[in-house]
Amino acid sequence: MSNLSIRRAKISDIPSIHSIEKKSFERPWSFTSFLFELKNPFSFFYVLEKDEKIAGYFIIWDMGEEFHLANIAVHPEERGKGYARSILEHIVEMAKKENKKKIRLEVRVSNKRAISIYEKFGFEKNGIIKGYYGNEDGIEFVYRLKGKL
Ligand SMILES: CC(C)(COP(=O)(O)OP(=O)(O)OC[C@H]1O[C@@H](n2cnc3c(N)ncnc32)[C@H](O)[C@@H]1OP(=O)(O)O)[C@@H](O)C(=O)NCCC(=O)NCCS
Repeated sequence: MSNLSIRRAKISDIPSIHSIEKKSFERPWSFTSFLFELKNPFSFFYVLEKDEKIAGYFIIWDMGEEFHLANIAVHPEERGKGYARSILEHIVEMAKKENKKKIRLEVRVSNKRAISIYEKFGFEKNGIIKGYYGNEDGIEFVYRLKGKL
């Protein structure tokens, strides 16, 4: 049995996080932008740790009434094990505690895998944002917390 936990990111995690980021995105965030997020008071920056190794991470921005999921990735060798689902469940719990109404995110129209995960999880498509990624459109998804309009 592997030992899984979700905890706040710290400075010594950034090299592993950035390495996963580069394997995961066409236009990865810079090392410095992760350092910035550690200090950003509006940011919830967490890692998923498996047997003391970073298996994934996520960054949420607190936008007042809603959370914005700014970044989420799972290490390529750890995908398909339900970790993204666990992360999303964790985010919903955090959103409830913080009394948020919605969780919002954007995804590339070509990212079929992420889109299917968000749809299965209960996110609703809120529209297309033309040219959101410069070379590609984005889909905006919203997850509404129960009992919140
Ligand atoms: C998107 C990402 C975070 C998903 O992480 P993951 O841990 O592999 O996802 P999970 O294992 O939790 O999969 C969740 C669901 O997707 C399904 N799934 C797994 N592989 C899939 C595939 N290749 N295509 C479609 N669905 C798939 C699973 O069956 C699971 O469904 P279930 O909960 O009904 O069983 C991961 O692929 C990743 O880091 N991608 C690169 C970064 C990225 O695109 N981030 C999202 C940007 S918006």
